[in-house]
Order: sequence, then C-alpha cells, then structure tokens
Amino acid sequence: MDSLLIKGGVPLHGDVQISGAKNAVLPIMAATLLTNEPCVIRHVPDLTDVKFMGKILQSLGAEVTIEGDTFTVQARRIKGHGDYELIRKMRGSICILGPLLARLRKAEVSQPGGCVIGTRPIDLHLKGLRALGAKIVVDEGYVRVQAPRLIGTEIFLGGRAGPTVLGTANIMSAAVLAEGVTIIESAACEPEVTDLANFLNAMGAKIQGAGSPTLTITGVKELHGAEHEVIPDRIEAATFAIAAAMTNGEITIHGARPDHMNAVIDKLREAGVKVERRGTSLVVKRGGKLQPVDVTTLPYAGFPTDVQAQMMALMCLTPGISIITERIFESRFSHVAELGRLGADISIEGPSAIVKGGKRLSGAPVMASDLRASAALVLAGLAAKGSTQVNRIYHLDRGYEKIDQKLKQLGARISRIQET
Ligand code: UD1
Repeated sequence: MDSLLIKGGVPLHGDVQISGAKNAVLPIMAATLLTNEPCVIRHVPDLTDVKFMGKILQSLGAEVTIEGDTFTVQARRIKGHGDYELIRKMRGSICILGPLLARLRKAEVSQPGGCVIGTRPIDLHLKGLRALGAKIVVDEGYVRVQAPRLIGTEIFLGGRAGPTVLGTANIMSAAVLAEGVTIIESAACEPEVTDLANFLNAMGAKIQGAGSPTLTITGVKELHGAEHEVIPDRIEAATFAIAAAMTNGEITIHGARPDHMNAVIDKLREAGVKVERRGTSLVVKRGGKLQPVDVTTLPYAGFPTDVQAQMMALMCLTPGISIITERIFESRFSHVAELGRLGADISIEGPSAIVKGGKRLSGAPVMASDLRASAALVLAGLAAKGSTQVNRIYHLDRGYEKIDQKLKQLGARISRIQET
C-alpha cells in the first residue's frame, strides 16, 4: 500500500484549487439511475470512491463515460442488484438503494458493514423506505427492498445523533417518483443534500425546502436527463485552511463556497487564524499566537465531524487546553493515538478529546485509519520537525483529489512512496 513521506516544518504558500465534493457527487451519481436518459455531471473529483461508484453503476447496467472531470451516465436498462463485493466495500454505495427502488420498484444491496468511525446503522434509511410503502428483508448480508407502489407520506428522519445525510438522500431520491406528496421532517441540511435536490429538480423532480429540516417532495411520473456541476468540497477547503494555519504559511483557496464553511471559518478565527473571504476564494494565514478553542461536532450548519480530526491536529500546536467533542460518530478518534506518536498530548474522556497543546510535534511513522484521520496525520506531519511517514494512504485517495500534488505546489516536501 502506498505511503506519504513528509519532511515537515515548511510554511505552505501559494494557491490551491478546490475539487468537487465527494459527498455530493456520490448520491448524485446514484440518482442518475432514476432515468433512462443521459445525465452529465461536471466538476467530478478524481477519487477512488468516485471510480468505485462508477463501477457500481456499470455493474447495474449503466453506461458510464468519463472525459476529464465530466461523467456521463446513461442507465438505459438496469438491474436491481449490483456487484455484492463492490457495494459492500464502500459505505457511500448505500445511496443507490432509494434510486433503484424508485426506478425498478425493487432493489437488493449488500448490507454495509461498520467501520472504524462507528457502527453506522441504516435503520433510518429503512424506516423512511418502509414509510413510503416498501417491504424490506435483511438477510444473508443483503438488504432486499420491494414496493409495487411508493406512496407519499410524512416521515420523521431524526435519529439518535440527529439527521442522516445519506438517509435523507435515499428517501428523497425514492420519494421523487412516489405517488402524492412526501414530507421529510428532520431532514439533513448539509449542502451536499441541497446539491442532490438541485440535480433531482433539474431532472424534473419537485422538491422544495432543500437546505432546511423540512423537505416537501411532490412525486412525478418520470424523470429525464440533466446536466449538473457538483459543488466544491467544503471539507477539502477546510483541510487546506488548517494546513496554512499549522505551517504558519499563507494559502489562497480558490473555487470554494465560503458560505458552506461558516462554522469552520468562525472556529479558525476564534483560534487566532486570519481568514479573509474574497468571493469564492479564502485567504488563510496564522494571525499571531494560536488560541485554544473548544469544538463540538454537530449536523450542518454546526462544525462538521469531517473536520474534527484536522482541527484536533491544529489544536495540538496551540498552547493551552482545547476540548473537542464528537457528537456525530461514537468512535471517531482513531487519529488520537497516531497524533500521540508525533508527540501530541491528548486524552479521551467519553465523547471528548482533551488536547494539551503547544509542544512542537516531531516526525514519526504513523498509520492512517480512516479518511479524515489520515488528513489530520498529513497536516501534523507538515508541521512536525523531521520526517513523518503516513502509511496506508488509500484512505486519503478515497476523498482528497491529488492531495500530495496540491501540497507540493504549495511548497510542501512530500513524496508518495509506491509499494512495489
Ligand atoms: C455522511 C458523509 C460522511 C459524514 C456524515 C456526517 C457521505 C458519503 N458521507 O455519512 O462523510 O461524516 O455524513 O456528516 O456523504 N445514523 C443512524 N441510523 C441511520 C443512519 C445514520 O443512527 O440509519 C446515525 C449515524 O450512526 C451517525 C449519524 O446518524 O451517528 C449521522 O450519520 P449520517 O448522516 O447518516 O452519515 P452518512 O450519511 O453515512
């Protein structure tokens, strides 16, 4: 497996372009299954998760053509079950369930397993589909869903940790072709859900309220092809902003949506980082002395769980005590032990990590265990004295387009070691 070798201590300077959002493009690709006409998706990031989703669509019978960052998908004739192994490997593939059910009235997907960040149940997805009239059987590792008719209804989708992002995507994608009106209460408000709603509306769906907790979906008989440009990745942009602060450099982040990043920008400013908004760009540099901050992850528009690990890396450099509380996923602290190898002083108390920051980090070999944990380790390596080798970086390639090349352009001494 590839690893990244980082020689730390170089302030990063220059410009970086943000790619399309992974978490937006996956459900949008799945939604192309709702029509037999071609759909054109632009600003698609070059990520292994996206390639995976492309393969899953192909395994269902869709034609997928890739030209640069544009994907054309035509799901002329499809079947309701794809490659078991492919689907099982990627948690995000659960979002094919809603579109398949709506189009074919039956679907079969492999049950997604747990992962390092928690058990990741799908009970809310199933609750929503059941409410629309689906019969669901879970056995032999499969989720089998069937509904001769889908009928609009009121669905409350709030769970233990709040709304569900992909659950909202799934139910919305099924309800667009249901009879009558569906109202989803406690819907996820993430910009990626809004992006999916915009794509579905461009296909002829009637969805109102996207971006709010109440979605009203008036079912239509069929959808048609559409073109769509995916929103910029707010998590990637936040990661580069933190890189500027951690290395004491200055980075101009282009092609972002600062309006999707208010919670992160606000916390960075509280931590003493200078963040200037210039239209779709952000200029980020360390303002002076870093200040400790307390962070709690929450559903959008709160601080994103997907930036928790990176923020923790920044707090390791910040003199004083910061408390980082994870409210979305119960075990999303796998980066703590690895940051410890670099010299960080972090202890876990229930859902909170207590970071005693301010010591200089020093390089060491570390192991990436999930996507955002890997990003935190890269950031810590960039700020640390000496060399850090981040092993198992396939996680990073799932969610960050060409991260090593982008960092290199900013002056980082980073190289990819390919396993022979
Ligand atoms: C999506 C994102 C992921 C992000 C997460 C939260 C994609 C591909 N992934 O994941 O990067 O970290 O949102 O912003 O878009 N839950 C239930 N029952 C369910 C579904 C979820 O209890 O049926 C719980 C989860 O365990 C978790 C919380 O709800 O505690 C939020 O999870 P959810 O929003 O569903 O995450 P994903 O959509 O899987």
